[in-house]
Amino acid sequence: MNIIRVKDYDEMSQKACEMIISVVRSTEKPVLGLATGSTPEGLYKCLIEQYQSNKVSFDNVTTFNLDEYVGLEGNDPNSYRYFMDSNFFDHINIQKNNTHVPNGIAKDLEEEVLQYEELIKENGAIDMQVLGIGLNGHIGFNEPGTAFSSRTHVVELDESTRNANARFFSSIDEVPTQAITAGIETIMESKKIVLLVSGEAKAETVARLLNGEITENFPASILHKHPDVTIIADEAALSQI
Ligand code: F6R
Repeated sequence: MNIIRVKDYDEMSQKACEMIISVVRSTEKPVLGLATGSTPEGLYKCLIEQYQSNKVSFDNVTTFNLDEYVGLEGNDPNSYRYFMDSNFFDHINIQKNNTHVPNGIAKDLEEEVLQYEELIKENGAIDMQVLGIGLNGHIGFNEPGTAFSSRTHVVELDESTRNANARFFSSIDEVPTQAITAGIETIMESKKIVLLVSGEAKAETVARLLNGEITENFPASILHKHPDVTIIADEAALSQI
């Protein structure tokens, strides 16, 4: 794994922004894998700025998001579809029907997860997958214990993940208990992966990622086996290394 050490959150976002722009410019029909959460917000801001100053176009870009809560409509402010639209897609020239987020209100969730996989395959492969990491080492919503061989599937969310995400909801009871997530194997099939980490709260997680064993109990540890992973981490996140 290639580690890029940066000063702070802004520099992390800037570096990730440069990497994405380089993939978009150099690929005929770029396919990006995207994440939600606090970590990539600065990246999306940077990409919007670059678009507004005519440095990049998203006209021919297709995106696949990692995950979505089960039970939330796309216009629910806590859904990941809403997050992506309001933080990114609504501000760039991407074609909305080329943006894919799992459908958390699909009648048949098992059918939805199969279709999502199919759609990724139809588009070739993900050229660059952006990841954040949960305190427990989750990637997407693949919680500890998820098989490394998993494909896109429905998950029961860990209490620790529901607690961590409760800050966006008015109470913990409103945080959904299930989500759809791209599987570990699905993520590992991406051509390039860039993992973003910022802040002291993630320092122990980063130390375990870099120094710990490869185990399904710490899902991100599988990234050691991918041939092209870049971790962009700030000084605070690397403070326990
Ligand atoms: C979100 C996702 C999650 C987050 C992780 C970190 O689409 O896949 O794995 O990346 O929970 O979240 P933040 O960035 O809010 O710390």
